[in-house]
Amino acid sequence: MTTITIENAGKYDGQEVTVRGWLYNIRESGKLVFPIFRDGTGIIQGVCSLKENPEAFEALKGLTQESSVIVTGKIRAEQRAPGGYEMGVSKIQIVQRVSEATPFPIQLKEHGVDFLLDQRHLWIRTPRQASILRIRAEAVRSAREFMDGQGYTLTDAPMFTPAACEGTSTLFEVNYIDDQKAYLTQSGQLYIEATAMALGKVYTFGPTFRAEKSKTRRHLTEFWMLEPEAAYAELPDMMDLGEGLVSAMVQGVVKNKPRELETLKRDIKKLENIKPPFPRITYEEAVGVLAKNGNPAKFGDDFGGDEETIISSSFDRPVMVHHYPTAIKAFYMQPDHERPDLALSFDMLAPEGYGEIIGGSQRIHDYDLLVKRLKENNLPIESFQWYLDLRRYGSVPHAGFGLGLERTVAWICGTEHIREVIPFPRMIYRVYP
Ligand code: 4AD
Ligand code: MG
Repeated sequence: MTTITIENAGKYDGQEVTVRGWLYNIRESGKLVFPIFRDGTGIIQGVCSLKENPEAFEALKGLTQESSVIVTGKIRAEQRAPGGYEMGVSKIQIVQRVSEATPFPIQLKEHGVDFLLDQRHLWIRTPRQASILRIRAEAVRSAREFMDGQGYTLTDAPMFTPAACEGTSTLFEVNYIDDQKAYLTQSGQLYIEATAMALGKVYTFGPTFRAEKSKTRRHLTEFWMLEPEAAYAELPDMMDLGEGLVSAMVQGVVKNKPRELETLKRDIKKLENIKPPFPRITYEEAVGVLAKNGNPAKFGDDFGGDEETIISSSFDRPVMVHHYPTAIKAFYMQPDHERPDLALSFDMLAPEGYGEIIGGSQRIHDYDLLVKRLKENNLPIESFQWYLDLRRYGSVPHAGFGLGLERTVAWICGTEHIREVIPFPRMIYRVYP
């Protein structure tokens, strides 16, 4: 017997095949049962009658949700069935029967989100969560494909670091071997500045950590960041790269995961629009937009979620805000030559209120200026000697950015909170399961 995956069921119309999976749900109606099976690639409705297949019927009757099963039956087109096909079940083997004493905790009804997060290891089996994880995987695949296609080489940054990259207030301290202190990385940037000087165009893609005390729908304590860095690149080069990367990710999902987007009831029209060029405005223009909308932000203020939502709401695609005040940005950002109070920086704000998905800048390449900025930020110069070496030995203008994967995927999926788009979210009050 041919074993198939449910996503391919349509190719076997009229044939008898085997599916290996789990019982997602079952409805019983007299001498008929209507089980729904899932196998990780999709769900398919089955039908089994007492008269034609008494053995399979008895095995299915009363079978508990999430019992693992190997089922055989004929595939046939059925317009009313989810996915357009159903299976006439003729044979079933129960691999493990879930005990009635400990039924599967997630029923097909509404549950509170705290309960679901406690059950995250099981919650991911539901069609919505499984679709989100597949979309995440596709977003990563198309991001890598894009970066590799642009001639960027993957160089992975370390997770243990001796110093801060993005401010000391969100550092996770680790008790390293023999009482040495280390920190979990907040960003791989400093390290890929080094690999960029070795290889030209590079990127790192991995987990990053922030001891965020904020409890918002946009913050995780562990999230994934894709960070490109290029030697001899300047701010506009990175804005071009950023819009290309984000477009590639969105279009990859639109093209390759239409069924998953449909499961999420995502408005695909809005995503199809996401193509370069993206609008670009200066920070000062953005402050003007805020004033026009009655927001009190003034020059020198950092933007929070509310401000970002107002700024992005006048655009149908992500907007890039550039030239933020130097004073509110990280120590490594290159000040503008003519306006040193402004940094050669940009943030990309996603539409529909999803906020900042990219933060990037041109980096200081002058040794003395970098030392001055480290001191102003009270950072330990000793830990940055290797980083200063990059300014001692053939320093060149260079630039890069970091794209937050979960924020980007949350926007693509249209989820309310970013905790749904990572398999096991880590947040201020959650490290379980
Ligand atoms: O703007 P950020 O802090 O930039 C950096 O870390 C730079 N060193 C990157 C670089 O230039 N190589 O973070 C970059 C992105 C943000 O735009 C956001 O999308 C995401 O990372 N991010 C978070 N995502 C989830 N939870 C958090 N706590 C996040 N903090 C930042
Ligand atoms: Mg930022």
